[in-house]
Amino acid sequence: MAMKVLVAGAHGKTARRLVRMLAESGHEVLGLVRKEEQMSNVEADGAEPVLVDLEEEGVETVGRAVEGCDAVVFAAGAGPGSGAARKETMDYGGAAKLVEAAEQNGVRRYLMLSSMGANDPEGGPEPMRPYLRAKARADERLRESGLDYTIIRPGSLTDEEETGRIEAAESLGRRGEISRSDVARTFAEALEMESTYGKTFEILAGETPIREALERI
Ligand SMILES: NC(=O)c1ccc[n+]([C@@H]2O[C@H](COP(=O)([O-])OP(=O)(O)OC[C@H]3O[C@@H](n4cnc5c(N)ncnc54)[C@H](OP(=O)(O)O)[C@@H]3O)[C@@H](O)[C@H]2O)c1
Repeated sequence: MAMKVLVAGAHGKTARRLVRMLAESGHEVLGLVRKEEQMSNVEADGAEPVLVDLEEEGVETVGRAVEGCDAVVFAAGAGPGSGAARKETMDYGGAAKLVEAAEQNGVRRYLMLSSMGANDPEGGPEPMRPYLRAKARADERLRESGLDYTIIRPGSLTDEEETGRIEAAESLGRRGEISRSDVARTFAEALEMESTYGKTFEILAGETPIREALERI
């Protein structure tokens, strides 16, 4: 079924791949970005660009962006060069604001691009802990929301090509890599799979076709 989907962080490396996949599948896609100069690329990817800074704007403004959507995807992030303050305002705050905006506007479906390690921030390498703590809190906020959520936690992201195959489980018990293309495809597949509602799971590059891996979750 064609859906209206807002992708937050639409100019990101994973998000751009996802926007193109969703648009190709016939979904109506809104691409949320904070920089005007990124709007033309988002449009070229097949989405309607929406200019909103998730850290600077209030929940009402974010709410207007998600109004009328069937689903939202949080694929934004402060990025590796950012300090602890932006882990708080973006990786936690931006994601939480999008949860609140979805709640207030009757958007039931929320997919979160989380991270492997967010289940145990204190067990991660010291420099990663502020980031992992922020991701853990964002995931927790979403779980408490009552929305139809899916929280997907990939390992280290690469720019390798799409394979269409992954491994997925609540806990994979190992670290590893996965391509941004396979992550994006996993989100595109999970979007409409009710069996992924209320689930939190890890993904890595693997051998199982994505849909099959998701059906086993
Ligand atoms: N890298 C890894 O190995 C890894 C592993 C597991 C999970 N993850 C998660 O996956 C996410 C996506 O990864 P990626 O490599 O695709 O990320 P990316 O290319 O850094 O994309 C993140 C996007 O978020 C946007 N953004 C930042 N602040 C914003 C704000 N205030 N309002 C709206 N948009 C904002 C950025 O836009 P600007 O250009 O405006 O900054 C950027 O386009 C990461 O953020 C991380 O949480 C990453």
